[in-house]
Amino acid sequence: MKQLNVLGICGSTRKGNSEYLLDQAIQSANEAAPDVVKCTNYSVRGKKFGPCIACGKCGENSGECIIKDDFQQLRDLWIDADVIIYSVPVYHMGMPGQLKCFIDRLGNSTFGRYKGLYEPGFEKLPKLLKVVGSIAQGVHICSGQEHTLTDLINHALLMQCIPVAGDMWQSYIGGGGWTSNDVDRNALKKQIDANQYDAQVAVQSAKDVGRRAVEIALMLRNGAAAMENELKKDASYKPFLDRVEDHS
Ligand SMILES: Cc1cc2nc3c(=O)[nH]c(=O)nc-3n(C[C@H](O)[C@H](O)[C@H](O)COP(=O)(O)O)c2cc1C
Repeated sequence: MKQLNVLGICGSTRKGNSEYLLDQAIQSANEAAPDVVKCTNYSVRGKKFGPCIACGKCGENSGECIIKDDFQQLRDLWIDADVIIYSVPVYHMGMPGQLKCFIDRLGNSTFGRYKGLYEPGFEKLPKLLKVVGSIAQGVHICSGQEHTLTDLINHALLMQCIPVAGDMWQSYIGGGGWTSNDVDRNALKKQIDANQYDAQVAVQSAKDVGRRAVEIALMLRNGAAAMENELKKDASYKPFLDRVEDHS
């Protein structure tokens, strides 16, 4: 069976709690289907993502963004992925700026990338149907986790992807939690080592997000195979079908 590309994106500027939870999610994604899953981890740490300057050039350049920085590498990984798992720290009740800059540029340039590609006048975002799972954690309780998850869910929907949560009850709309007022980069790891309950819940929710994202992606792939002839009539499904088609 064709490999399933799982991309883990850590939105933290340091090697810390977001990366720790992402590792749990990725490990669990791999365990869900070890024969097909291929995981790639990416971190925004040390990378540069300038903000979109609304020049509109990506609408004319087949989606190429004129700002050359770390955007292009992550965009290519993102486009190739079947599953994307974001793990982010809450910054000011939302996602960190680096990731927001990436997402703004990804959205606009993806319109340009597919514009007119499959039929003249094709101006919409295709149904990319990647599975997107999100994890958010912050230092305090009820301090932006749900807002951040909702922003990532909205991003997934806008990109014509499928947002997924983990399992009840640990995960209502995504994974994550809080570090019980500890700003240390290793707070969650230390709390797990000390059998702290809230950290255990955060880890469980992250694992569930990883596994569930893979399960849904495999269902989508099988669904695409079953409905291939029907879906081929609609150009919006072309990139999805090209991605999931098994030529082996
Ligand atoms: C600029 C900045 C803003 C933050 N804003 C919030 C916030 O609104 N809510 C919150 O719970 N934690 C906030 N935090 C704390 C981080 O979310 C928290 O320490 C998290 O565990 C960091 O994750 P990391 O270890 O992956 O970097 C903020 C931290 C920074 C640096």
